[in-house]
Amino acid sequence: MKRVKLEKALTFLEPGPVVLVSTFDGKKNNVMTISWTMPLDFAGHFALCTGPWNYSFGPLRKSKECVLCVPSVSWARKVVQIGMVSGEDTDKFDRFSLTALPAACVKAPLIDGCVACVECRVEKFLPAYGIFILQALAVWENPSCQDKRLLHAVGDGTFHADGEKFNFRRLMRAKLPPGL
Ligand SMILES: Cc1cc2nc3c(=O)[nH]c(=O)nc-3n(C[C@H](O)[C@H](O)[C@H](O)COP(=O)(O)O)c2cc1C
Repeated sequence: MKRVKLEKALTFLEPGPVVLVSTFDGKKNNVMTISWTMPLDFAGHFALCTGPWNYSFGPLRKSKECVLCVPSVSWARKVVQIGMVSGEDTDKFDRFSLTALPAACVKAPLIDGCVACVECRVEKFLPAYGIFILQALAVWENPSCQDKRLLHAVGDGTFHADGEKFNFRRLMRAKLPPGL
């Protein structure tokens, strides 16, 4: 993984991919699948939505840290499988042969093989809707990832892969922050 500038975090999350959220509970790493995420600004704030029925909720609340790991479509089956079992009774890193890499700013790990990983600190929790407000602290991109197409959940058990790409950068210039 190659560390890249913080502004790049948005470019991995803005397309709305399914992500893997890694946490560390003080003893072991865990990972869950999340499709309910959203960028909030150009300053590295993101929202993710989950609740106490998931094991990850506890470590997220307690450690106030996580890593948003963005897998490519080549991980589609594994991403769904990870979201079907709980860290409460399963070591998912072992079960799904995931390689944890050390992060720079948080104790939760990066996941080797993902397209990108965004280390985050929990800034706020909004209990009414189970919304965690995250601040990106460090961003990593995987230069050796062959397939960078992202995976998108429809919500009914079907998924889309990234398809055609359009470049409207010139048209959007006035709305894009410098450096992106
Ligand atoms: C494609 C997919 C998307 C999911 N998205 C979310 C989500 O956005 N929020 C959520 O709370 N759970 C979501 N889940 C469910 C959790 O990943 C699942 O409950 C998981 O087992 C939680 O793991 P944990 O108990 O180890 O934290 C999703 C599952 C799948 C398969």
